[in-house]
Amino acid sequence: MKQAKLTLEGKEYEFPIVIGTEGEVGIDIGALRQNSGAITFDPGYGNTGSCRSAITFIDGEQGILRYRGYPIEELANGMRFTDVCYLLIHGHLPSPEQLSEWRHQLNHHSLIHEDMKKFFEGYPPNAHPMAILSSMIGSLATYYPDEEALFDLNMIRLLAKTKTIAAFSYKKSIGQAYVYPRNDLTYSSDFLHMMFAVPAEPYGVPKVLDNALNLLLILHADHEQNCSTSTVRMVGSSGANLFASIASGVCALWGPLHGGANQEVIQMLEQIRDDGGDYNKYVDLAKDKTSDFRLMGFGHRVYKNFDPRALILKKAADDVLNELGVNDPLLEIAKNLEEITLKDEFFIERKLYPNVDFYSGIIYRAMGLPTEMFTVMFALGRMPGWIAQWKEMREEPSGRINRPRQIYVGEQKRSYVPVKER
Ligand code: CMC
Repeated sequence: MKQAKLTLEGKEYEFPIVIGTEGEVGIDIGALRQNSGAITFDPGYGNTGSCRSAITFIDGEQGILRYRGYPIEELANGMRFTDVCYLLIHGHLPSPEQLSEWRHQLNHHSLIHEDMKKFFEGYPPNAHPMAILSSMIGSLATYYPDEEALFDLNMIRLLAKTKTIAAFSYKKSIGQAYVYPRNDLTYSSDFLHMMFAVPAEPYGVPKVLDNALNLLLILHADHEQNCSTSTVRMVGSSGANLFASIASGVCALWGPLHGGANQEVIQMLEQIRDDGGDYNKYVDLAKDKTSDFRLMGFGHRVYKNFDPRALILKKAADDVLNELGVNDPLLEIAKNLEEITLKDEFFIERKLYPNVDFYSGIIYRAMGLPTEMFTVMFALGRMPGWIAQWKEMREEPSGRINRPRQIYVGEQKRSYVPVKER
């Protein structure tokens, strides 16, 4: 297969085919407008490949997710999040020396400038931590210059400092003193320590929490050209610096159809619980075309069979809650919802299955994280993916600014008549 043919108003045009390493086929329509005057129309970009990328492979029909060729199930089984960050950003697993240097760097860049603590004071007490996170990440650009020689260091700074910013935003929201990062802890333990330690007494992070958070971060680490990652690439394509590009990715992630869904899932499960636990009523509501209610944590643009991350998290939710001795009625409601929807024609026809956000919130809750922090946790996990994608885009030699076209449906030319003032 070398070419695709298009017939437009009786005239035939040929386009080259682009084939990926897993056999994905794309029609390169780069010359379409120049040759035919037409453009493609694909609202929501469901059929548009925006780039070539060697980072993450997803087969939505088969439920496959791989980072740099490694299946998610293998990476989630024992790897540390920091090492997955290295893999995503550098494209290969580190040597023992590279690994210890990488971990050392990530630990030693986790402090934020003391002046930045003052920024937190300016927010109202109930400020959403995603708003704080995006503006703080944007603010890092005011401290660290955007110079090519500093790219690698800035990537490490961003990965290292995000967990400190996230934990400080929580401490600010509950009016507690900030707890500084510790270089002797793993990435996930350090974050939990900054979240839950108080100066008055020592806090040891339970191993089960360290492992659970490590797993959650790995499962969120990249997901190819989703809404927030495309936003990072879109902003970065104009030449905007790393911090500005990723701050915009945080904003895109915040929406309830994307990363914000994990917060919405828990709110929905609580609503079902408070309403007497009648989940059938909510399934019916989700199917009712006159209501705009959706089952949050269900459905995915790409996965049309199952989301492999959700399978891993469903089991992890059971394991973590058992180990912590937590009995959360929301887990029962979630499992029941999943069970009925898997047998329901509406959901089967539309290929709607639980996604990564469905069980993650139940684990975060058991860990003691407040619901408003859930999307921040997603952002913390997605950070290496955003960075890797931004870096890949910047290194692309023929990189052009991203600039889609449109089909204009507004008024045709008309003459301006000044409005007569009374
Ligand atoms: N509950 C009920 N119906 C749904 C749902 C849902 N969660 N999701 C999709 N549908 C229906 C939708 O009404 C439509 O039905 P019809 O064909 O009769 O009009 C059909 O399924 C296709 O929906 P769509 O909106 O065209 O699908 P999409 O690919 O544009 O959207 C989605 C994908 C994830 C935004 C959507 O499934 C959704 O809104 N899910 C709930 C929010 C959610 O859980 N988001 C997290 C996604 S995973 C984490 C991440 O990467 O962001």
